[in-house]
This record gives sequence, C-alpha cells and structure tokens, in this order.
Amino acid sequence: MTAPLPDRNDIRIAVIGLGYVGLPLAAAFGRRYPTVGFDIDATRIEQLRRHHDHTLEMDEEELRASVHLQCTSDPADLAGCDVFIVTVPTPIDEFKRPDLRPLESASRTVGAAIARGGVAIFESTVYPGATEEVCVPIIERESGLRYNEDFYAGYSPERINPGDKEHRLENILKVTSGSTPEAAYFIDALYASVVTAGTHKASSIRVAEAAKVIENTQRDVNIALINELALIFARLGIDTHEVLEAAGTKWNFLPFRPGLVGGHCIGVDPYYLTHKAQQIGYHPEVILAGRRINDSMGAHVAQRVVKLMQQRGLRTTGARVLVLGLAFKENCPDLRNTRVTDIIDELRSYSVEVEVHDPWVSPAQARHEYGISPVAEPAPGSYDAVILAVAHREFVAMGAEGVRALCRPGAVVFDVKRVLPRGCADDCL
Ligand SMILES: NC(=O)c1ccc[n+]([C@@H]2O[C@H](COP(=O)([O-])OP(=O)(O)OC[C@H]3O[C@@H](n4cnc5c(N)ncnc54)[C@H](O)[C@@H]3O)[C@@H](O)[C@H]2O)c1
Repeated sequence: MTAPLPDRNDIRIAVIGLGYVGLPLAAAFGRRYPTVGFDIDATRIEQLRRHHDHTLEMDEEELRASVHLQCTSDPADLAGCDVFIVTVPTPIDEFKRPDLRPLESASRTVGAAIARGGVAIFESTVYPGATEEVCVPIIERESGLRYNEDFYAGYSPERINPGDKEHRLENILKVTSGSTPEAAYFIDALYASVVTAGTHKASSIRVAEAAKVIENTQRDVNIALINELALIFARLGIDTHEVLEAAGTKWNFLPFRPGLVGGHCIGVDPYYLTHKAQQIGYHPEVILAGRRINDSMGAHVAQRVVKLMQQRGLRTTGARVLVLGLAFKENCPDLRNTRVTDIIDELRSYSVEVEVHDPWVSPAQARHEYGISPVAEPAPGSYDAVILAVAHREFVAMGAEGVRALCRPGAVVFDVKRVLPRGCADDCL
C-alpha cells in the first residue's frame, strides 16, 4: 500500500537552505506550522537566531513574528519532519554548466531524514527533469524508500526578487506541482495556506520546472534584444531611451531597458535550459546569442568611457575612474554574479585606476569575492570619469550636481541606468 500523505493539521516542515528564497519561506511557514530552518552555514544560523538577516529581506520584527521557526545547522534536528523544502543555490561552473552539487548535497540531507509518507519539495531553479532525474534517486538511495510509494516529491518555483519590498512571497502567485495527483493537491494546499495571492497547480513537476526557467530566459532574451539595439543606436548616434520611449507608445511594445544582466538568476538560469537542450541534441541559438550579448555589455560600457576620455584629450593611463555601484542591482547588497566587475576589468585593461563606491555592499564580501576594496567615501573633485553603474537610491539622490562635484574639470560621466535627468550625463546605455 502506498504511504498516506501527511495531515496538514499535524505537520513539521523543514526548509533546507536559508538564503534569499529559503528564509522568507521558512518564516512564512513558521508563523503557522512547526518549522525547522536548516542551513550548513553556522554563521548564518547564529545571526538568524539573533533575528538578524544580512540579506536585508526580512527585518527583526518579521523574524520574531515567526514564532514556530527554529533555525539550526544540525541535520539531526530534521528528524521527525514530514515536509522538506529545498531552497539551496543552483549556480553554474566556470564553463557555464549547471553546478548541481548543493542540490545533490541537500537531497542527501533530505534522504537521511525523510520517513515513510514524507514529501520533498524543490524550489531551487533547475532544468526540466532535474528533480526526478537527479534529486529523487538520491533520496531513494539515502533513505531506502521508494518514490511515489513511500515518499513523494514536488516542485514549486520561487519568484521573489531581491530588494523588492512590494513583490513578496505572500503576494506573488505560486506555481506548484507534485509527483502524484494527491501529492500535487497536498502541496498546492500547503502553499495556498501561506500565499495569499493564490497558487497555480501545474500538471507535472517537469512543467513547473520548465515554467520557472523560461520566465528568466524570456527576460534575458528580451533584455539582450534591447542591448543589441543599444549597440546599434550607439553607432548610429541615436539615443536608445528616446527610441524606446517613442516605440513604447504602441500598445504591445514591451518595456525592456538596456543594461547589465547580473545576479544569480537571469544571467544563470538560461544555461540550465541550454544545458538540458544540448544533452538531448538540440543546440539553442537565440538563448545563447542573448547570453553572449548581455555578457558583453560591461566591456562595452568601459570602452565607450575610454573612447570619450580620449576624444576629450584625457590620458587614460593612470586616470582615476569612479564606479558608483557594485551590487548586481539597485537598493540591495547582493553581489552574486554582478557584471559591474566586467566594467572594472575592462577599464583596468586600459591601465585606468578604478575606485568603486557602493554604500549597500559589504566591503569584506567585495574583497573576498572579487578582490575589490570599495572606498567608503569618494574623493570630491578627483575623478577623470564617473560611471553610474547601479541605480541605488543614494546615487539618484546625489543628482547631476552631486556627481559632477566628484569630477575633475572636463571629466566624463557615463550613466548606465539613466539615473540622472536627461542630458546631464555625457553618455548613457
Ligand atoms: N534570490 C532570488 O531572488 C531567487 C528567486 C527565485 C529563485 N531563486 C532560486 O532559489 C535558489 C536559492 O537561491 P537563493 O538566492 O536563496 O540562494 P542563497 O545563496 O541566498 O541561499 C542559499 C542558502 O543555502 C545554503 N546551502 C547551500 N548548500 C546547502 C546544503 N547542502 N544544505 C543546506 N543549506 C545549504 C547556503 O548556506 C545559503 O544560506 C536558487 O536555485 C535560485 O536560483 C532565487
């Protein structure tokens, strides 16, 4: 006989991986259900026990409100849990291939703790098939239980957006799925009990996996098109934003803007899909072309700045250039896969002296991850060029006057994200 699913009125939930995705989820479940938040990072657990979230996604009050949440780095504390939700990173390696090691390791943790009737739900972004081809066999091996007889699986992708206080777990519609119709129903009802925006029950785990990965792939390709247009218009001497503003008056023109595509989602997830496509003998063209264009934008920005400096007779060797912003996006401290580093690397290849200022990021983390030591305060009147790379609210507040006050006479101001009012920068993407 197949094992009965847990009773939702008497369950214990485990969330494996308490990062940007896992913590808000564990906190939401922990307001209502006994919940164990597990992470291998003992420092993170220690901070969370003091109700401090360094990702700034959750404040102290929100963490205190999650009265049934217990955080731990001891896998023994997972014993007795009925539902295991995996929210660990799914990065790519140096060859841009999926690095499934955290997911495999988390699956081993689940396999060691899951009992008959247990449910393993994956939230990490993957390619279609990964849950059932990679994670489920590990759980079977570790637990000795049989899939869809002794335990069940599901996939429910996350849509949160770091630093976005408007779109939060509770008010974003959640896609759910399960390995049997009954498991799918159970998982859907479980999420519906904490997500007020509602749920969409997909027909299978593979459909739910594919839905997530194409959400980000679609965004990546759309931005790549706009970036390519920006490259063309720069050569034509046409202002890209003015073109987009005019074209945007058509009812079905999509409002994408040019820019760097960093972070660990949009610039990474498409490689999961292309990896799977190549594995089955299809070689994606549009998706990978988009990735190449988006990855080239940092170097392009730097080259435009260097060209402008040379046109003004400024020596680039030894010139001081200030880059404002290092985080991968505005108003958040997230440094993962930031493409601002491409601007910096390219500038340095011209023997430019680059300084970086970002009030949001941890200087220690910037040093550790990228060998970059951000300056606490830029020096007024010192720079031959200033690049506004990230639209943090502090930079918006500086305005054109504040930015120019940092410059030497004749310096170049390049505005990647159109932070300044029109006409105030020397060049923009
Ligand atoms: N951040 C987002 O906005 C976002 C949005 C949607 C989907 N996602 C996806 O969600 C997943 C998680 O992303 P994130 O941003 O929360 O990552 P993160 O790096 O912020 O957090 C992951 C956490 O998992 C922990 N961890 C790693 N391996 C572990 C293991 N084996 N066992 C237990 N804990 C482990 C890490 O210590 C870390 O605290 C990824 O697949 C990502 O693509 C992220």
